[in-house]
Amino acid sequence: MKFKNEKFKLVTPTIKYKRKAIKYIKEHNKYNSRINGSGLLYEYINDYESWLKKLDYERNIVKDNVFVPNETYFLVRENDDRIIGMVNLRTELNERVKNSYGSIGYGIRPKERRKGYNKINLYLTLLECQRRGIKNVVLSCEKDNIASSKSMLALGAVFDKEIFNGIQKKFYEFYRIDVDYAVGAYKDTYEKYIN
Ligand SMILES: CC(C)(COP(=O)(O)OP(=O)(O)OC[C@H]1O[C@@H](n2cnc3c(N)ncnc32)[C@H](O)[C@@H]1OP(=O)(O)O)[C@@H](O)C(=O)NCCC(=O)NCCS
Repeated sequence: MKFKNEKFKLVTPTIKYKRKAIKYIKEHNKYNSRINGSGLLYEYINDYESWLKKLDYERNIVKDNVFVPNETYFLVRENDDRIIGMVNLRTELNERVKNSYGSIGYGIRPKERRKGYNKINLYLTLLECQRRGIKNVVLSCEKDNIASSKSMLALGAVFDKEIFNGIQKKFYEFYRIDVDYAVGAYKDTYEKYIN
């Protein structure tokens, strides 16, 4: 990790972060980057208030065959209150989500990548899982998304399977993390980044 004196937290989006959230998305657009874990914030860039309402709705979804409840967070660096990344945690899974998006979607803003921040993002998300009693998570990524698979592996992910998606015409890798194991095993590495 690059900066040892930095601290991070997951923050539930509120109106207070409106300006910063819009800048976060605009930075991705400027760098022509994909955006993950944002709860589709990029579709609401002109209507942040409706996005907040959407998040309220989504956290209370009753799981069915298609939809699952989920929670979106900003990864915030406490030193300057900057949004560094985002994460979407599916708090329950159905078969469809288990075999596609998995439990967690994440992203780091383009200018802050390759500093170890997504590993902190994932560690904080695993802590949140632990708080909620979620024991196991499933993670998926495109096979060539090395930054994503390495983030998972850094937190103790175990390879599960590879699937070819005929519609996307892409290979996807699936991993599993035992939440209690990972939090215990990587506590010494990541706790220093949390207040
Ligand atoms: C994937 C993503 C979240 C990684 O964020 P990041 O903060 O740059 O990742 P980290 O710095 O924590 O690095 C995690 C690991 O990936 C490696 N890594 C990061 N970027 C890499 C790259 N471009 N090429 C190869 N390895 C890379 C790091 O070296 C680290 O591995 P290590 O533990 O062996 O050192 C970020 O690239 C991103 O937001 N991408 C667009 C959205 C996306 O793809 N989300 C995931 C969808 S499954």
